[in-house]
Amino acid sequence: MREAWVIGAASNRFGKMPETGREAATRVALEAIRQSGLEPKDIGYTFVSNCFGLTEKQGHVGPLINGGLGIPEVPSCTIESACSSSSAALHEAFVHVAGGFTDAALVVGVEKLSHLDTLTATSYFAEAADYAFETKNGATFPGLYATLANAYQKAYPMAPEVLGSVAIKNHANAARNPHAQFQKEISMDTYLRSPMIASPLRLYDCCPFSDGAAAVVVAAKEFVRHPVTEPLVIRASARSGSITEMQDRPDLLGLPATRTAAEKAFRQAGMEPKEIDFLEVHDCFTIAELFALEDLGFLPRGTAGRAEVEGVTARDGKLPVNPSGGLKAKGHPVSATGASQVVEIFEQFNGLAKGREVPRTETALAHNVGATGGSCSVHIFSRR
Ligand SMILES: CC(C)(COP(=O)(O)OP(=O)(O)OC[C@H]1O[C@@H](n2cnc3c(N)ncnc32)[C@H](O)[C@@H]1OP(=O)(O)O)[C@@H](O)C(=O)NCCC(=O)NCCS
Repeated sequence: MREAWVIGAASNRFGKMPETGREAATRVALEAIRQSGLEPKDIGYTFVSNCFGLTEKQGHVGPLINGGLGIPEVPSCTIESACSSSSAALHEAFVHVAGGFTDAALVVGVEKLSHLDTLTATSYFAEAADYAFETKNGATFPGLYATLANAYQKAYPMAPEVLGSVAIKNHANAARNPHAQFQKEISMDTYLRSPMIASPLRLYDCCPFSDGAAAVVVAAKEFVRHPVTEPLVIRASARSGSITEMQDRPDLLGLPATRTAAEKAFRQAGMEPKEIDFLEVHDCFTIAELFALEDLGFLPRGTAGRAEVEGVTARDGKLPVNPSGGLKAKGHPVSATGASQVVEIFEQFNGLAKGREVPRTETALAHNVGATGGSCSVHIFSRR
């Protein structure tokens, strides 16, 4: 296998995009390529993620993005893995580059949802759960994650302030991130007074619906030669899956796909959790950040809440988690989320995360989950 690097990464501001998904995707892709020091003609393959393009009446968006980049002859394909779509696309780019099938690949994730109302968007999203057992019976993602939160709370009782501390931290980080949808801090009082969405999850426990686009350029070390940015060396690119139907899982105290993806990733990288400087994890709901910390192997089961309350995961804490603001506050434009986690790591490594820098940036981990954990990606990066 060849060593593969991330040499460019770009994102727009999440929230509401004035342009179409295709236009936004092309714009961020061009920005990521420009930043990498390559030219569009150097791209050998484009991997696109766009779960809900059909709501814009636009499928098969890859060739259109490539056309906009002036490389219509370059192959493309759309990768779908629910909320972990663009990390799955990154994995495919890694496989192609590391395997020698192409020297440079483009990963683009894009979603436009702001033309849908909450009910419609919730219904579309729920299709990523198990239709026969969950969606058909009225399950939605806030409801499914509330079920997980209730199971966890039963095993490890916690005050509302525990989940609140995750929301407050991530909002504080997003307030310093120009790519974030919610650039505002919240207080515990605001959190506790916010409406209940699906008990115990309140408004500020939930990620929002977001438009957004993010792009990443992956290239072989020997192809880049003179990098113009500080590359992220991809030390591990691991994916895993697990039983989607929650009623068939042995327990609901975490997401099994995160555990198996993390085991693979740490083995691939030859590293241990204590060697990771900071994390971007999948906090679609605050409870999911606790699961991630425990399933990835950073903290024992039942202890992540205390770590959050004690500030361990703050930007200046022992283990900074989601310096971008996470899905909770940066936003969650489904197919763009995995790529945008890499954008944050790239900006931290390159001194571009002004005002939200973490203390150490030698290594980082990105964790991206599909739905309630039917799929999961874990990527580990380091400096050269
Ligand atoms: C939580 C949720 C139900 C709120 O939707 P809603 O009640 O229709 O809220 P609205 O869109 O009407 O927004 C009302 C206000 O709350 C804000 N808001 C909406 N969602 C928010 C969120 N998740 N966090 C913080 N603020 C939020 C809006 O910006 C708006 O603020 P304003 O009045 O200052 O403009 C919706 O965001 C949701 O379902 N999120 C989860 C999405 C999801 O399941 N994703 C997949 C994860 S696996």
